[in-house]
Amino acid sequence: MCGIIGVTGAADALDILLDGLERLEYRGYDSAGVALVSPAGVDRVRIADGTHSVASLRGATEVLNGRSRSGVGHTRWATHGHPTEHNAHPHLDCSGRVALVHNGIIENHAELASRLTATGHILASDTDTEVLAHLIEEGLAAGDDLIAAVRSTLVEVRGAFALGVMSVDDPDLIVATRRISPLIVGLTDTASYLASDIPALLDRTRDLIALEDDQIAELRPGSVMVTDAQGAPATATVLRIDWDIDAAQKGGFKDFMSKEMADQPAAVRDTLRGRMGDDGMIALDQLDLSDDDLRLLTKVIVVACGSSFHAGLVAKYAFERWARIPVEVDIASEFRYRDPVLDATALVIGVSQSGETVDTLQAMRHARDDGARVVVVSNVVDSSMAREADGVLYTRAGPEIGVAATKTVLAQIAALELLALRLAQVRGEMTGEQVAVEFAELIRLESVLAETLGRAGDVAAVAAQLAHATDFFFLGRHAGFPTALEGALKLKEISYLHAEGYPGGELKHGPLAVIEPGCVVVAVATGGPLREKMLSNVSEVKSRGATVVLVLEDGDDEGAAVADYTFWVPASRDLQSPIKDIVPLQQFAYALAVGRGLDVDRPRNLAKTVTVE
Ligand code: AGP
Repeated sequence: MCGIIGVTGAADALDILLDGLERLEYRGYDSAGVALVSPAGVDRVRIADGTHSVASLRGATEVLNGRSRSGVGHTRWATHGHPTEHNAHPHLDCSGRVALVHNGIIENHAELASRLTATGHILASDTDTEVLAHLIEEGLAAGDDLIAAVRSTLVEVRGAFALGVMSVDDPDLIVATRRISPLIVGLTDTASYLASDIPALLDRTRDLIALEDDQIAELRPGSVMVTDAQGAPATATVLRIDWDIDAAQKGGFKDFMSKEMADQPAAVRDTLRGRMGDDGMIALDQLDLSDDDLRLLTKVIVVACGSSFHAGLVAKYAFERWARIPVEVDIASEFRYRDPVLDATALVIGVSQSGETVDTLQAMRHARDDGARVVVVSNVVDSSMAREADGVLYTRAGPEIGVAATKTVLAQIAALELLALRLAQVRGEMTGEQVAVEFAELIRLESVLAETLGRAGDVAAVAAQLAHATDFFFLGRHAGFPTALEGALKLKEISYLHAEGYPGGELKHGPLAVIEPGCVVVAVATGGPLREKMLSNVSEVKSRGATVVLVLEDGDDEGAAVADYTFWVPASRDLQSPIKDIVPLQQFAYALAVGRGLDVDRPRNLAKTVTVE
C-alpha cells in the first residue's frame, strides 16, 4: 500500500503535492518523492527517511518552489525492493523524460524486466514499478502519444496498480489509471488532481471522480477526460464529498482500527497476489530456501508474540496436516531460555508484523547462532528481522497504525499457509490438485471476508446486549483454539475487560469452576473436525448459567439451538476458517470498547511495537 498524488495547472503545485503526501502517510512512509515536470525536464527529489520521509522531502524541495505547475508525488510502503532512495518513486525511463508513480504490485515484473534489459533498457531500481516507465518509453519511441503508450503498457502487465504518468513532451498532461488499487481524480475550473485517497485532495476540491478498473483519465489544467481500456469515452460520475479532513484521513472511518478491519479483504488478497506460479507451484521468491533445503527439514518452530503467536498456532495445523512435518510454536520471550534443540534441519519462522519486536528478534538470533535456518514473516520491508533472517515472506497488509493487530494477523495466517503449501508440494505430501483446492480457498477469502465484515451491525447488537458483562471466556478447538485466543486478546487489549482464551476440552480440568451466571462464553464452533465436541463443551457451560455466544457457519441451526446469541459467518474449509472467524471477534471487542468510550487505536499501557524485553 502506497500513496500517490498528482496535480496539473496549479501555481503552488509543489505545496499541493507535499500537503497531499502528508495526508497519505498513513498508507506508507518508508520513503517519499516528487517529480515536477516542465518543458525543461523532470525535477525529481526522493528521500528515504522512515517516518520522517515526507517532512524531510519538504525541506529538500524548497529550491523547486515555482518550478512547474504540474507534478506527481508518492509515499512508499515497500513491497519489492528495499526502502531506499533509489527504490523511491517517482521512477523515470532511460531518457529521464517519463516520470511515474505507482501503488500496487506488478506480478509479472521479473519477466518484463528481463525482456527490457535484454533490449538495452537500464533499470535503476529493484522495484516492480520501474518496468512500467520503460514500457511506456517503448510506446513513445514507437510513435504513440502518452495516453496510447500507457494503454498499450496496461495490456502487458498483470497485477494491481494505480498510476500517475507524466512526460516532458506534454508537461501539462497527467495520465492516470487503475486496476484494483484505488485512484481518485479531483476537479476545479483551473486545475486537476489525482490521489490514492480522498483526504489528500479535500482542501483543494470536493468534486471527485472515483476511477473504475482499467479506465484511463487524461488530466489537464481544468479538464478531465475519462476513457475505457479500448479508448472509448467512459461515464465518470462527479461526486461532491462533504467529509471533514480528520475523518477522511481514516478513510471516512472513526478510527484506524475500524479502517484496518475494513482493509482485511485487500490485505489477504495482496498477500496472496502473484504467489501461485504458472506451473502450479507456490512461489515465494524471497524465502531463499531451495527445494533441497525444504526437503531436508525435520521440524518447524514458530516464534512470535501476541497476535503473531496466534497466527503461528493456526499455521501449526496447516504445516502438520498439509506438509506432514512436526511443528512447535513458541512464545518468543520463552524460546531461547528453554535451551531448544536445533540444527540445520530445523526451520525457525519468526512471525512479526513490525519485524522489530525484540523478543522475537532475539529468539531468531538464538536460532541462527545454533545453526537453524531462520526466516521471518513480516509486514515491514527491511525490518530488523527481515535484514537478519536467511529469507523473508512479506505480508502485504500495508501499514497498521492501530495498536490492536487486525489485518496483519489475517495476512500472517494467509502467508504461513502459503508456506505450508509450498513445503507440502516440495516434499511430495500433496498433489497439484490438492494444493490448487487449498489455494483457491485462500483466494476466495477476499469475498468471504467482505461478506463477514458486512455483518458488523449484527455483532454490535449482541455487544450492546452484553455491555454490562465483565467476565468473558473464549473457547475453541483445533484451529478454532488460536481463534479464541485472538478474540480474548483483542477484548482485553482494547476494552480492558477480563477475558480468557481456552481450548474447549480443557474447561473441565479447572476453569469450569469459575463459570457462573453472568459469565459470557464466546465459542468458535465453525465447521472444523471438532465442531460437535465443541458444542458439547458449550452445553457444559450453559448448564452452569453462562451466557453463550457462538461463532457459527451459515445454516448451522443445530448450533444456534445451543446459543443465546450467534455470530454468523460464511462457510469455509477448516484450516482457512480462522482467517474469517477472527473477524466477528474483532468486531465484538471493538463494539464493547467503543461502547465503553475507549480509544481503540491507543489502548492504555500498550505500544504498537515492543522493543524492550
Ligand atoms: C496485538 O493486538 C498486539 N498489539 C500485540 O500482541 C502484537 O501482536 C505483538 O506485540 C507482536 O508484535 P509484532 O507482530 O510486531 O511482533
